[in-house]
Amino acid sequence: MATAGKQALNRPAYSIDSMDSLHRSHRCGAIRPRDVGNRVTVMGWVDRTRDLGNLIFIDLRDREGTVQVVASAKDKAILDKAKELRSEDVAAVVGNVVERDEDTVNVQIPTGTVEVRAEEIRLLSASQTPPFPISEEQVISEETRLRYRYLDLRRPRMQANVRLRHEICLETRKLMDRRGFLEIETPFLTKSTPEGARDYLVPSRVQRGQFYALPQSPQLFKQLLMVSGFDRYFQIVRCFRDEDLRADRQPEFTQIDIEMSFVRPEDVFKLVESLLQRIFKVAGYDLAVPFPRLSYAEAMSRYGTDRPDTRFGLELRDVGTAFEESGFQIFRRILEEGGRIRGIRVPGKAAYTRRETDELTRFVMELGTGGLAWIKSTAAGFRSSLPKSVGASVLGRAAEFGELEVGDILLMVAGAESQVNNTLSLLRLHLAKQQNLISNDRQDCLWVYDFPLLEWSEEDSRFLACHHPFTSPKEEDLHLLDTAPERVRAKAYDVVLNGTEIGGGSIRIHSQELQARVFEALRIGPEEMQTKFGFFLDALRFGVPPHGGIALGLDRIAMILAGELSIRDVICFPKTARAMDLMSGSPSGVSLRQQRELHLRLT
Ligand code: AMO
Repeated sequence: MATAGKQALNRPAYSIDSMDSLHRSHRCGAIRPRDVGNRVTVMGWVDRTRDLGNLIFIDLRDREGTVQVVASAKDKAILDKAKELRSEDVAAVVGNVVERDEDTVNVQIPTGTVEVRAEEIRLLSASQTPPFPISEEQVISEETRLRYRYLDLRRPRMQANVRLRHEICLETRKLMDRRGFLEIETPFLTKSTPEGARDYLVPSRVQRGQFYALPQSPQLFKQLLMVSGFDRYFQIVRCFRDEDLRADRQPEFTQIDIEMSFVRPEDVFKLVESLLQRIFKVAGYDLAVPFPRLSYAEAMSRYGTDRPDTRFGLELRDVGTAFEESGFQIFRRILEEGGRIRGIRVPGKAAYTRRETDELTRFVMELGTGGLAWIKSTAAGFRSSLPKSVGASVLGRAAEFGELEVGDILLMVAGAESQVNNTLSLLRLHLAKQQNLISNDRQDCLWVYDFPLLEWSEEDSRFLACHHPFTSPKEEDLHLLDTAPERVRAKAYDVVLNGTEIGGGSIRIHSQELQARVFEALRIGPEEMQTKFGFFLDALRFGVPPHGGIALGLDRIAMILAGELSIRDVICFPKTARAMDLMSGSPSGVSLRQQRELHLRLT
């Protein structure tokens, strides 16, 4: 049965045994007190061993957990085999389940009251010393983790994350099936559809000089499935976007993609609320439905962002009016140029020291603003970083707009509206973290709706779609499409969880004429329209049901439910911030022959 001993792994001689003739009866971590008295066969990885001379304890681990195996000197062959075992070896153990002696009981783990008395041990595969311990929580550099991802994934935390992800998918499929949705696959080798990021391109061998694009999302296909009459579609689908990466972005990521016919936003909201309720249940959270709803305009005004974290207050206030007539030139000029002065009231922080306000000033200046102004309301009156000449009455009015009470500080930023909002939304988060205002047990979901249809792009000198060009404008704003396109609101919505956008969707345009008008507003000319979307515009001529949908970011949801800070921790084989796979070494060069076949020449 045993093969020859090996030295290659830089450890004492050992011999590898065959698994044949053995049949696993239980998973290691699944052994329970009810199994006492039974003979079991378990297989797994050696988590650790403790050698007491005439007694060796082995913690054998698999995906369900660990079980304690005991080899005793009563059988010298078993003891010798046990002595050969090293961490991360794969072993099979046949033995009897017995109760542990009272002094060795471990109440922390479900197998902690029992152990397996080994009658046979086989070493199925030997391991070199791993680059990091598997079972101990230790800080390991992400580079090492990604290089040895298969070992990183053995760690209990990653095993739990991957399993959580599986359960989220399973619950999704169950619920969607019950609600009458069909799971339908759409192609990966497609024509480019714009979602705002760059495409990953795949050169065609057969069609010289032509390229497929990997889908940024199945947007057009799912809409075409509505044209085909499938009525309710969903897909747990990989999407590809070549964009700058962050902790919550990957070049390939997974969406729970949904499309429905004959629906209003309300119907999509209800479905997604039920779905998220089910998904959150997996992680033990009870989500209250319906979710609160905020119009885009209200979200921007109260939080300075369209994805607010509503687990804490610190809402933004407009204080510009107080400075309109003031002699403070800098603020007046900003207002005259159409800018804003907005602030955050921080309760009880009139006591901030100079060092503390300086730190906050640095924070906002690093975000590109001119500075941070403040007003403190104290029992002795107002104190401010603004010049004395501003005067008590102006400070008093600003304090009033900022709803300042005695003991509070108002932190103010002035400048272009988008800059002010962006800065204050980040300052708000910074303050909340600093003051520990965010409860990690709380899960706040909300809808943000009525997004603008278009946004002006300085870079392209034209309007771009805020969501995507297939989003329906609101009927009541249609008359603005030619005269004031920036004011047209869309039937678009996002679902936001704890300040992260976890999903976005819209009611779509289902009329060819309106779709063409929106393309026009986007300055997509008839020719470009035809080459890029001709097939889609054609389809809009053949009877299109009103339809709409949404896509949820599965990785982001899993990340939040797993309590992780990066989506890399819920993806088995993720890419680094530079879009590389450190384990397999991709992307990588390809042979000249492959390049030739694909008609490519590198410059
Ligand atoms: P959108 O572009 O808003 O909409 O994407 C939907 C959701 O997908 C997630 N997401 C990402 N997750 C990880 N890494 C990324 N790079 C990444 N990009 C997006 C987010 C986001 O909310 N076709 C439309 C949906 C529709 O209109 O139905 C779409 O893709 O959680």
